[in-house]
Amino acid sequence: MSVLSGRAGTVAPSGAGTHGDANALLAEIEGIGLAPDGGGYTRPVFSPAELRLRSWFTAHAEARGLAVETDRNGIIWAWWDVAGGPTATATARRDAIVTGSHLDSVPGGGNFDGPLGVVSALAAVDLLRDRGVRPVRPLAVAVFPEEEGSRFGIACLGSRLLAGAVAPERVHALVDDSGSTFDEVAAGAGFDASGIGPDPDRLGDISAFVELHVEQGRGLVDLDQPVALAGAIIAHGRWHLRIEGRGDHAGATRMADRSDPVIVASEAIRSVRQRALAVDDARGTVGRIKVVPGGTNVIASAVDLWIDVRHRDVERVRRIVEQVVADTRRAAEAEDCTLAVAEQSFSPTVSFDPELRDRMQAVLPGAPVLDTGAGHDAGVLAASIPTGMLFVRNPSGASHTPAESAEPADVAAGVEALARVLEHLVTR
Ligand code: GLV
Ligand code: MN
Ligand code: MN
Repeated sequence: MSVLSGRAGTVAPSGAGTHGDANALLAEIEGIGLAPDGGGYTRPVFSPAELRLRSWFTAHAEARGLAVETDRNGIIWAWWDVAGGPTATATARRDAIVTGSHLDSVPGGGNFDGPLGVVSALAAVDLLRDRGVRPVRPLAVAVFPEEEGSRFGIACLGSRLLAGAVAPERVHALVDDSGSTFDEVAAGAGFDASGIGPDPDRLGDISAFVELHVEQGRGLVDLDQPVALAGAIIAHGRWHLRIEGRGDHAGATRMADRSDPVIVASEAIRSVRQRALAVDDARGTVGRIKVVPGGTNVIASAVDLWIDVRHRDVERVRRIVEQVVADTRRAAEAEDCTLAVAEQSFSPTVSFDPELRDRMQAVLPGAPVLDTGAGHDAGVLAASIPTGMLFVRNPSGASHTPAESAEPADVAAGVEALARVLEHLVTR
């Protein structure tokens, strides 16, 4: 079972020029999936852009002599085996240390969210080898599919499948915007999805996962530090609201005779903002809305709307969503519309493993500890194995936009920090 490389064209690794250099690696993928109008990177899972990046990663990993495999959940693993070379068997991969991130993106995102963790992992492997580090346990660089959930709706889909946090039957039934199922899209990318599902044996062989990520806020800018450790991820979830009314003619239908789902959607949007504003440090967002069929002179028959709510306290997230649904239901009744609500994904608050963080802090004594409002595969895996994260300063503080940024010197500092952490973990 594998994701075919080359299906969507490959980017050849440029070789020695990228050795130990995450900036040079990032430069190689600049432009892949970038909108011509400067509207940012759009690299949905299994799209031509994401497949090119997967092939590019595989070529770089193989060029480094790492043994590359794609597991039955579409996660790529590039192994630096203790015995060395691609002949080492999976059974020798016990007690492994794993690092990595994702290569898919949100619509209109930056070049750092995901890829920074992947290129830093490759560069850190180079540094460890240059320094003559001899691991006593295997090290893998992992690339997780559909971290953003921007194609099939469920965030961190690959790590959720691995950890058994989403049922395979549910994933088989997921459809993208074009109506294609997960299995169909996967097959189009050369990936057989029939075996997706929990993989406790693989997880059980991992002793720690460390993900490096661009910071998605201004914590490091304000602290004047290049690299931080992660403390916690706040609870977050996504809900799909389907509002159905009665399509009709914009000119011929009197205002009093309408059943217009767009009016109900406007109440949902207003409620998300108002209910989140009423709770200290809560976040509520409607970033995606689809009016059906979508014509200027057409009263819509339906609206699909997705909401994203976050807070440190799980109960507050639940309460905000209940309030929004109640407000929207009232508006739907008044407009003679129907409302259906489905939870797409939910991630409780994650406090990263304190023992692992202590070990990371021992080799990075000056690094501050920051919490984040963004979700990560490390957050999902934290329920099963010790996980930790490193954040790299982002001068704009912005993410999920092309304004996301990282200075080359900070990228190098991130690689150095990751290399130190990995050296500590693989040699003890
Ligand atoms: C992913 O970046 C998320 O926080 O939704
Ligand atoms: Mn993201
Ligand atoms: Mn990310």
